[in-house]
Order: sequence, then structure tokens, then C-alpha cells
Amino acid sequence: MELGKGSIWIIDFGSQYTQLITRRSRELGYSCSIFTVEKTIEKIKNGQKPNAIILSGGPQSVFEDTTDYKPIFDLEVPTLGVCYGMQIISQYFGGVVKRGTQGEYGKAKIHFQNNFNINQVPASSNVWMSHFDHVKKVPCDFTTIIKSENGLIAGIENLKKSILAYQFHPEVNHTEFGKELLNHFFTDVANLSQDWDDNIMLDNCTKEVEAIGDEYVLCAFSGGVDSLVAATLSQRVLGDKLYCFFVDNGLLRPQDYDHINLLKKETSLNIEIINAKDEFLSNLAGYTEPEKKRKIIGTTFIDIFEKKVKEFEKNHAITFTYLLQGTLYPDVIESVSPHKKGGKSVTIKSHHNVGGLPDRMNLKLLEPLKFLFKDEVRQMGMKLDLNTAWVHRHPFPGPGIGVRVLGELTEDNIRKVQQSDQILFEELVEQNLYDSAWQAFTVLLPVKTVGVKGDARAYEEVICLRIVNSTDGMTATWTPMSHGFLSSVSRRITNEVKGITRVVYDITSKPPGTIEWE
Ligand code: XMP
Repeated sequence: MELGKGSIWIIDFGSQYTQLITRRSRELGYSCSIFTVEKTIEKIKNGQKPNAIILSGGPQSVFEDTTDYKPIFDLEVPTLGVCYGMQIISQYFGGVVKRGTQGEYGKAKIHFQNNFNINQVPASSNVWMSHFDHVKKVPCDFTTIIKSENGLIAGIENLKKSILAYQFHPEVNHTEFGKELLNHFFTDVANLSQDWDDNIMLDNCTKEVEAIGDEYVLCAFSGGVDSLVAATLSQRVLGDKLYCFFVDNGLLRPQDYDHINLLKKETSLNIEIINAKDEFLSNLAGYTEPEKKRKIIGTTFIDIFEKKVKEFEKNHAITFTYLLQGTLYPDVIESVSPHKKGGKSVTIKSHHNVGGLPDRMNLKLLEPLKFLFKDEVRQMGMKLDLNTAWVHRHPFPGPGIGVRVLGELTEDNIRKVQQSDQILFEELVEQNLYDSAWQAFTVLLPVKTVGVKGDARAYEEVICLRIVNSTDGMTATWTPMSHGFLSSVSRRITNEVKGITRVVYDITSKPPGTIEWE
């Protein structure tokens, strides 16, 4: 099986859970890829055919949907409809979908009907619903297999056609037997063979690297899990033809310097550390506007990287052909935006760290992880025998603490974030809490407040602690840390970091706040 050409096609109608269906399906051992409905129809016209199709949920109403689904259903492959997908199936095969007057949102109880049963799943359980319209009458040849507590049709099946549909979301954690309900489709309805596990994943990523042939490859290396896994697996194929360039932009935390030095010592990667702190700080001097700061950090990175690489190529008499990046699947999925009014719009998230480099430097891209989710990259890291702590590091943004020092980036402001971040990091590790948060960091707020230190009046700045839980950074909730933890971090920061008299805790989720402050 070729990676990214997954045997199951998941058609994205804009549900916030589409990626979750993909992840759950892979966890159950089935390879799958996400496509828009337009792309699916184009692929079918080009003669391609999956082993099965999953129609995702989505915010639209079938009453406004003008898509002709004939090419999809004419394939006659096993099909699962989830939420909106169930309504498409019902409408297409002659059932009746009723426009909603009152939706079902959140937790709901379901009951199996008509002798329907799944091994190890009780006949009544709790699921997650999120729909407005509902199926009023099932198409002929279909059976109602599940109803919700308030009598609405919550599941239908046509085993002759190998079609199953759920009105609720089996992929979300709130659905009690979600995995079993999803697996019912793969095993009992579609009769598929498993084709996805760690070994297949690693083999496929390795093949991507093997395919480039005998070329020199340059990695823009941050030391984060994505670039580390991409570099480690590539080095197994490329050996000394892979070079990792790590740019020290002066916007790193103490833990990042320790980490890169450790990787240099304990791995066999060719890591070149480029000290460019002065260039970054002088280019950033005087700027306070967040977007401007990001742009300067981005262009300075490209300028320095390009210059150093040219020098390196000259000194070593080699030419790099490829740029290795740790791009992940969520960065490349052509997806339907659930946020855009009127429904379907194609959004492709761009990789904001090294964007612009390949064009400028005439390099081809090597992205062996581009069909994997973050959890899968971590799994691969473990499979490659990388140290657990390296594989489970919190994400760190490309512009570093440049987006955590609000306002101007002076050496003194950077120091305040570096020292406070180190205290937070040490306390999290010490109290065994590092792995319980998705991201934890400190931000310097450019406001002065009055305090009293010793017997003297202090008029100094504020550090904000930001600790969040998330699965992909797209949404996040603030983490309720214990008062004891917060108070020890606050005490240490106000005592140990010169220029800080006050510590506050950010209790904003995303949305509406973003994770970073700039
Ligand atoms: P926001 O602040 O948008 O961040 O809620 C979501 C996640 O992305 C990280 N982030 C970045 N990562 N380059 C990166 O590599 C960036 O420019 C960047 N901006 C934000 C952020 O740390 C969080 O994990």
C-alpha cells in the first residue's frame, strides 16, 4: 500500500472531527486519506477506486447541497456515513431527511433496534451528537439499527450494499464505544483487511527518502520532534549525505540550548549550529508590531540560512538538492473550512517556519512525514529508539520567544522570558507534570506594576504563565494547575528573575484566545 493513497477515502464535509475519523481508523489498523468531495469525484473520473469510503460530518444541510453523488455511490464500495454523511446516504437512496427545528447537540443516549448487536457493545450507551436536520424515514432496503433516547433515527444499515451510517460521531472520545462502533464498519460491514501499523508507517516513510536517490540533503533542523524524527529516519537511508542546520536566533529557551547540545552529543546526526543571535536582534531592534516581528524573524532566517548553506557548499565542494522538512498531514490536507460561511472553501495551511526557502534556494522538498499525524510521528520516534523525553517535548513555535516577549525584543526582555521559562520548566519536571500539559510557557507583558520587594517600592514588569491542553494546537483549553504548583512557580519567578514583581495565570481557551500571545 502506498502511503497517502490510503485504502479508505474519507470525504471531508467540513466537520471539526474529520481528522479524528482518520486517526481512529488508523489506530484500528486501516490506512486512510482525506479528500474533498470535488477531489474524490476527480479521482473516480481518473479511474481510481478505494476499498471503502467514509462520508464525514459537516455543518451544511442536505437541502443546500447540490453535489451529484452518483459517481461515488456507483463505485459500490463499502460506505460509512457519519452525521451529515448519514443524511447524504438517506437522501440519495430515497429516504426522507427532515429540516431541523431543534438540533441534538452534545451527549445523547442511544438504543440498538431490530436485534442489531455488536460484540462487547451494550444495547444502550452514550454518544456524541451534533446535528440539526435528521433522517425521518429510512430508504427502502435499509434498516433502522439505532435510535436516540428521544426517538430519532441514529443509525441505519444496508448489509447487501455494505452501507452503514451513524447520526452520531463514533470518532470522538465522548462516544462510549466509539472505537467498537467504527470497527463494526471495517470488520462486519466492509470486511476489510488491516493494512496500517508502525512497521508499515516506517517502511513507507523510508521509501519516500529512498526514492530521491543518491543526493545531498539539507535539513532545517529545530530539534523538535518532527524534524528530529524526519532527520533520524532519513539519515538511516542517506548516511553522511544528510546535514542538519540549526539556526540559533537568540530567541531560544535555556532548555533548547541544552537539548541541541545533547542531540549533537548523543545522536550521529551531522548538526551544524549557526550562531546568528546578533543579526536577529539587530534586525528586530525597535519593532513592536507582532506581524512585523514575525516577518523579520522569517526573512532573517532565510537570509542567514541561505548564506551559510552557500558557504558550506563551497567549503565542502557539495551541492544540496533537497530540503528535508518535518511537514505533517494536517499541514497538507486540502480541507473544507467549517468556519467559512456558505460552506465549502479550500484551505491549505502553509508551513510557516521555512516557507520561502526552497524557492529561493532552488531546492526540491523531501517531506517523508507528510502523511502522518503528530501522535504517529511520536510513535515513529519511539520505533526509531529515540529517547522518550525527546519524542514528547512540547511544541515550540518557529519564531521562538520572539512571540512571547510582547513589544520590543531587547536582550533584557529576552532574558526575563528565558529565566522565567526555565523556572516553569524545572518545576513541571520536578513535580512530574511536564507530560500532563500540551504546552507550557511564560510571556513577558510590557506593563509595569507597583510592588514591594524587601522594604523598597518596586515598579516592574509582569510575567504571565500560559499552560494549555490540546491535541493539535487548533483548539486548546487552559490547564487548571494546582494552587500549590502555581504558587511555587510564582514565588520563584518573583524572587529569581530581576525586573519581575508580579506573576499572572492565563485562563483563556482557544478560541477565542490563541495559544501564543502574538
Ligand atoms: P496559536 O498561537 O496560533 O498557536 O494558537 C498554535 C500552535 O502553533 C504554534 N505556533 C507556531 N509554530 N511557527 C510554528 O512552528 C509559528 O510561527 C507559530 N505560531 C504559533 C504555537 O506554539 C501552538 O503550538
